[in-house]
Amino acid sequence: MTLTNTKAVDDQALESLSTATVYVCITCRRASDPEDAPRPGLALAQAASKAADGTSVAVHQVQCLANCSRALSAAMRCDGAWTYIFGGLEADRDAGALIEGAQLLARAEDGVMPWRGRPDILKRGLIARVPPLNFTEENQ
Ligand code: FES
Repeated sequence: MTLTNTKAVDDQALESLSTATVYVCITCRRASDPEDAPRPGLALAQAASKAADGTSVAVHQVQCLANCSRALSAAMRCDGAWTYIFGGLEADRDAGALIEGAQLLARAEDGVMPWRGRPDILKRGLIARVPPLNFTEENQ
């Protein structure tokens, strides 16, 4: 591989690190919400899409992240990074935090969303994180 090709690969890696995707469950509702009413999950997805305008964060709607008992739910991922799943979100409060967190994750060179600077709801509402493909624990 030539130096030029190495630079191209590095640029691709940086590009992939600079894009994050947020998946918002549009079927989420709280237990007290009527089943036939507009779902607050959809409202959160719409607010997140609006909050992502002008950023490199993509927002996708998804039906159920299997975190129904801790709705509202969302997940976020970047290539080469850990995937994060959140619950206990509010449609009228947390869209901006999701986009802010996705940007933190996209900039994290180690693929781990930093605790410092992370929006509080993404600390309190963390359900799980999943390692990236090809991850191996180094301290075994
Ligand atoms: S309905 Fe939203 S996680 Fe299941």
